[in-house]
Amino acid sequence: MDARQLKIQAAGAALEHVRSGMRLGIGTGSTADEFIRLLAEKVEGGLEVQGVPTSERTAGLCVELGVPIHSLDELPELDLTIDGADEVDPYLRLIKGAGGALLREKIVACASERMIVIADKTKVVDVLGRFALPIEVNPFGLAATRIAIEKATSRLGLSGALDLRMDRDGPYETDGGHFILDASFGRIPDAEALSSALNAIPGVIEHGLFLGLASEAIIAGPSGVTTMKSRGNQEI
Ligand code: A5P
Repeated sequence: MDARQLKIQAAGAALEHVRSGMRLGIGTGSTADEFIRLLAEKVEGGLEVQGVPTSERTAGLCVELGVPIHSLDELPELDLTIDGADEVDPYLRLIKGAGGALLREKIVACASERMIVIADKTKVVDVLGRFALPIEVNPFGLAATRIAIEKATSRLGLSGALDLRMDRDGPYETDGGHFILDASFGRIPDAEALSSALNAIPGVIEHGLFLGLASEAIIAGPSGVTTMKSRGNQEI
């Protein structure tokens, strides 16, 4: 089964958690796109949801496919958010942000009663950090912020490249007009300590560690779909 089919399977299983009348946070990325396509079919068939997109990209796809959307200011409290992830550990801690939407994704997830992660099995890791951690920073004082991040992370015993994410025309800009530094730590043994250290740096807007936000993860692999609750797997 190819990667796209796995994403569709995870997205389809997540759709079963969506009920008519829900206020729904809608994630960003290729897996979230599959979810939006399946959701759009249900909406066409009469399912009533109010979506809040986590990026301009997701908003565009929702509009194109007829999924009703609102701003988070219009709907500041959500029932459920469904979103992809770059890594998921056994405690349902996540790395997110490869698609650059981490800030809005985190704000929307925090505003939701539940967050369901959808991913294929390649995203499941024992320890976070194999995937580069996106750190969203204010363009003002970029060099100073980079030094502050290097110092703070080295105090935690972490090292690795800190690469400014680039686009064709220059630094990649998020929907909020910020830059992203991708931190290749390889292994993040204490995600909570790293999260606190990064949050304490003024130039850091947000980072891609999502801790304590996911309620469950729906993981699709060659042998089927499983749901991960914190510290365990259970067949569905
Ligand atoms: C977007 O900024 C990310 O957080 C995505 O949710 C994450 O990168 C997963 O994307 P894919 O579903 O494309 O792998």
